[in-house]
Amino acid sequence: MSSLIIPPADILGDLTSRTPVGLLSRQEKDRLIERGFLGLYRWYTARSQETRNWNPDKSFDWRKLRHDFSEPLMQILQGFFAVEYFTPDYVDEILNLVRRSHGRSHFQLRWGSEEEKHADTWENSLLFSHQRTPDFIESYKEDLRSSVHRSIWEGDALRNLVYTVFQERATQLNYLNLLKIANGKSDKPQHKDDADPVLARVAQTIATDEAAHYNFFLEGVRLFLYYYPQRTLEAIQDVITHFTMPANNIVPDWDAFNYAVYKAGIYGPREYARDVVQVVFRNLGIESRKKLEEGIKKGRIVPTKDDDGTHLTAIWDTFDYGLVEGDVQRIYGKIVKHEKDFGRYELDPTDFVPNPEWPKK
Ligand SMILES: [Fe+2]
Ligand SMILES: [Fe+2]
Repeated sequence: MSSLIIPPADILGDLTSRTPVGLLSRQEKDRLIERGFLGLYRWYTARSQETRNWNPDKSFDWRKLRHDFSEPLMQILQGFFAVEYFTPDYVDEILNLVRRSHGRSHFQLRWGSEEEKHADTWENSLLFSHQRTPDFIESYKEDLRSSVHRSIWEGDALRNLVYTVFQERATQLNYLNLLKIANGKSDKPQHKDDADPVLARVAQTIATDEAAHYNFFLEGVRLFLYYYPQRTLEAIQDVITHFTMPANNIVPDWDAFNYAVYKAGIYGPREYARDVVQVVFRNLGIESRKKLEEGIKKGRIVPTKDDDGTHLTAIWDTFDYGLVEGDVQRIYGKIVKHEKDFGRYELDPTDFVPNPEWPKK
């Protein structure tokens, strides 16, 4: 699906020649999406450096971390470490898929540099708890390194992008619910003595990063949804149907970790449905799973090679396109502000181009 960024020339030639006058050609849509990603990436990097420039070793008072966390909490911290520890694999597989897109490939490096800090921070939490020995941590890492993470959407850039939106929201939720435990606000008996201010600061700091990641990938999906609704809605449906947390099949103690997060009320099927899927749907103007399925079916009734079925009003009725258009305009608003701040706008502006296929009400 890397062809979504730059389709092969022979396909392009064929499609552009058949694009009705007044509509955007596929090539133009791809250019707009690429330009949006690039502007967003530059905006994100500046903001990340200004507001979230923390360090896993020096931003926390590790010597003050308590040494008597409950074993279920230790299992949870160990699982969080394991999932983040596969960051080089996550970066590697996506980077190769999007390497022709400046914004997406460079963002992947920036994203990876933030995710590796999470792995280092969770490792510190294990070590400074004194409840996992350096030898244990070393051999656990060796176990993890013996497997390579592979996305179930291998080779499909759009589904990987959509997957990341749900995954980032799920990860943020995991850390926010851990924060409740660290703040002494859990109602679960096994966590009644797990409050700790250092751990609370860690959970809050990492959850803030995850929120920023969620927003970046969400903006990316909005760009695709705005210019390519049919294929983006299909990708969303596929991803939510098969969603699992990353690395669940290669972390050696996954079942124990999964049980601990479930029992702690941190994450399970209920949280996924209510606090992940519903939240993402709301942010993308999708009313419900049922509406999504119906819309996709209608959009497939008259399959077309060249315009994604966007001439069919059915696909536009599947979601609140007015909301999405407003959100896409806002994306450009913050990119333009960033470009004006340092003068790029005067030389090479990134401006919003409406999709004329939207059936305005
Ligand atoms: Fe992370
Ligand atoms: Fe993240």
